[in-house]
Amino acid sequence: MTSRAVQYRRFGGPEVLEVVDREDPVPGEGQVRLAVRAAAVNPLDWKLRSGGMAKEDAPPQPRVPGFDVAGVVEAVGDGVTTLAVGDEVLGKSVGGAYAEKALADAKALVRKPAEVSWEVAASLPVVITTAYRALAALGLGEGDHTGTTLIVDGASGGVGVYAVQLAVSRGATVVGTASPAHQDEVRAVGATPVVYGDGLVDRVRAMAPQGVDLAFETAGKGALRDLVTLVGSPEKAITIADYAGSQELGVVFTSGGDPDEETRALADGVARVADGRFRTTAVVTYPLDQAGQAQDDNQHGRVSGKLVLVP
Ligand SMILES: NC(=O)c1ccc[n+]([C@@H]2O[C@H](COP(=O)([O-])OP(=O)(O)OC[C@H]3O[C@@H](n4cnc5c(N)ncnc54)[C@H](OP(=O)(O)O)[C@@H]3O)[C@@H](O)[C@H]2O)c1
Repeated sequence: MTSRAVQYRRFGGPEVLEVVDREDPVPGEGQVRLAVRAAAVNPLDWKLRSGGMAKEDAPPQPRVPGFDVAGVVEAVGDGVTTLAVGDEVLGKSVGGAYAEKALADAKALVRKPAEVSWEVAASLPVVITTAYRALAALGLGEGDHTGTTLIVDGASGGVGVYAVQLAVSRGATVVGTASPAHQDEVRAVGATPVVYGDGLVDRVRAMAPQGVDLAFETAGKGALRDLVTLVGSPEKAITIADYAGSQELGVVFTSGGDPDEETRALADGVARVADGRFRTTAVVTYPLDQAGQAQDDNQHGRVSGKLVLVP
């Protein structure tokens, strides 16, 4: 059987993406094949597509973008005992999610609650697991963190909104940066909003006279030095988006974590979405053949919320 997928054979702008018919991928040991209901766009997708993160001149083989996926199990590989055909799941795919059919490790998937739509489900895996991992690395893991003040740079973004809500649920006081247009969204998820950009240190000091203990940089827009100034030392900050700044300032850059821990975090985050403890971001959907437009809109901040492809 064949099905449609988005792929690129060379690095470049959104124009390198093409929709092709391909043989359905066959699940390997421990994997399942999903009939994809929705696949989210993340900044990493267009960073990889651009070639900016690659050592080689072109992808060694055609590459299907995308990690976040929600869908129905339609085939199981050897050794899979936890999932069966027909199960509705979400998680991170292996080998690309912008497709009608995608593979995933069964261990990386969690069940989709009925209360969560396919589009919202697909929007969760990368941002939820990243928020949990970064907060744990900052010392804001499970437990009561009353008395700790955290600043989240990029608090209106995909990762930012869950980082704010998770930290608030653990008792922390949170200050969140966003553009003027997104101050209300930051307030709605439980943080005190502040506009990012020049003068950030003074604005935050004026609004948080108790001082800021920890900083989570999620935007990659050059605020890391200001955040270190606010918290007093680089060990009290973490970044997921400013690798050069992390090297220069001695701040931890986190990317990827223990797979079992990520699945536990995803399950916890999804449960909070299902019962309303986590507010979700707005979701904007695109058909598969507009994947390039969706990536471009995300890269240039044209559309607020999570951008999700619906095959
Ligand atoms: N290392 C990892 O494991 C990992 C995992 C996930 C994501 N990431 C990276 O983290 C970054 C954010 O991902 P995301 O999915 O949250 O992206 P996103 O949903 O596109 O959000 C981007 C955020 O950046 C904010 N922003 C824009 N310009 C800013 C500025 N000058 N100063 C401060 N904030 C600014 C935006 O605020 P406004 O909309 O209000 O302007 C928005 O809140 C990306 O670079 C992504 O590649 C890394």
